[in-house]
Amino acid sequence: MTNEKSDKKKKVNEDEIASPKGMRDIFGKEYYAYQGFFEKAAEVATYYGFRPIETPVLEREPVFTSSLGVGTDIRDKEMYTLKTKGGDHLVMRPEGTAAIMRAYIEHGMQAQPQPVMFYNYGPYFRHENPQRGRLREFRQFGLEILGTPKSIADALIIRTMTLVLEEAGFKNLSVEINSIGDKTCRGSYMRALVGFYKKHTSSLCSDCHERLKTNPLRLLDCKNPKCQELKAEAPTSIASLCNECRHHFKEVIEYLEAMEISYRINNNLVRGLDYYTRTVFEVIDATPTLLENGEPAAPIALGGGGRYDYLAKALGSKKEVPAVGCAIGVDRVIMSPAHKPLDPRILKKPKVYFIQLGSEAKLKSFTIIETLRKAHVPIAQSLSKDGLAQQLAIAERSGAPYTIIFGQKEALDDTVIARNMETRSQETVKLADLPDFVKHLKDELR
Ligand code: HAM
Repeated sequence: MTNEKSDKKKKVNEDEIASPKGMRDIFGKEYYAYQGFFEKAAEVATYYGFRPIETPVLEREPVFTSSLGVGTDIRDKEMYTLKTKGGDHLVMRPEGTAAIMRAYIEHGMQAQPQPVMFYNYGPYFRHENPQRGRLREFRQFGLEILGTPKSIADALIIRTMTLVLEEAGFKNLSVEINSIGDKTCRGSYMRALVGFYKKHTSSLCSDCHERLKTNPLRLLDCKNPKCQELKAEAPTSIASLCNECRHHFKEVIEYLEAMEISYRINNNLVRGLDYYTRTVFEVIDATPTLLENGEPAAPIALGGGGRYDYLAKALGSKKEVPAVGCAIGVDRVIMSPAHKPLDPRILKKPKVYFIQLGSEAKLKSFTIIETLRKAHVPIAQSLSKDGLAQQLAIAERSGAPYTIIFGQKEALDDTVIARNMETRSQETVKLADLPDFVKHLKDELR
């Protein structure tokens, strides 16, 4: 085979190397919108006493298989699992809570003053069917309070989460909330639920037939329209709550009312993960939204969470660790029409447009840019354009109040020309005087 032929064989077409389905590149304005959201969210969380944590993107499989629950879509259908060359079974994290509890146990954080409060941010992976607000790689901002059973922790999570969303422009939030009880009362609720669904097996979809046997609570998650109708008549978990759970739920609601957070008790809300106990909630943007075809869009959850008092034991801890948390779907926030992009701190408007002309100037230009960086003067520049007129036109459009021109003559004389873009006045500045000149420029640009 000739080289040419084998080269041809190796060539791939653009479709073959396109980003994987449901995963995407983030750049330009959108990148800054994500970064700005994260900075604001982290700032709010920090003021409320949360501290950052980052866990690996890959975890050992049991972190999720032992915690998310048999019969949940996330565990049974959506996990990206892989076997390493060394034979380890790893999972690309589908969610963050189990991993943070794993870290809490692994680092003996029970020994620290309780509760331990974390915020975290990063990418998560679920092999779902991509659609509106549903990606295979998506980003979450999460909050977790580990080590307290107190209802005020549930309220603090909801408060911090809604504040973050309000800062991001959402003015019409609604908290959907429910209590699914604990081990004292969950059994009697399950019996009531199974009893009800057994009377209606002929109207159930095939998945729900299975759920009835393996994990009856998941019957309430079913998206099939046939099963949705039944769901409305199913017994509610609130009706089966034991006294402690009822009291806890009442207190959470009282906190929400005291903070004037608008909420709605949603008896069907169980959430798609098995580790929850007592409080479960989702936050939706209640602003009416239209789809591209003009039809009203069904509201989607911007975030959700709840209490998970038994997760630590499911992960092998000897002691129970009562905990509560939430996660915001950041892609859903950024893609929502109600979202107000926030500039990240790193994004600086250029104060100076830097023009270099000719080879001599190009060589020395780095020294000038470094002088400006050290003086905290952000610049814009055009690396590949050579003509002065062309570059000045770009400088004009950039909105930078000053332009520094460094041409062949200036490179030989060790000077630059500084041009005030508003008055169009120009002055020649010696390179040695540039740091001083920039200092005075900085005051002027403030
Ligand atoms: P989750 O409800 O599965 O909860 O996810 C939280 C949020 O992440 C959702 O409300 C949604 O905004 C976003 N999200 C979920 N799946 C996708 C997807 N495929 N594409 C885009 N966005 C998505 C959890 O993950 C729990 N760990 C939350 C929690 C923290 N519970 C207690 N602590």
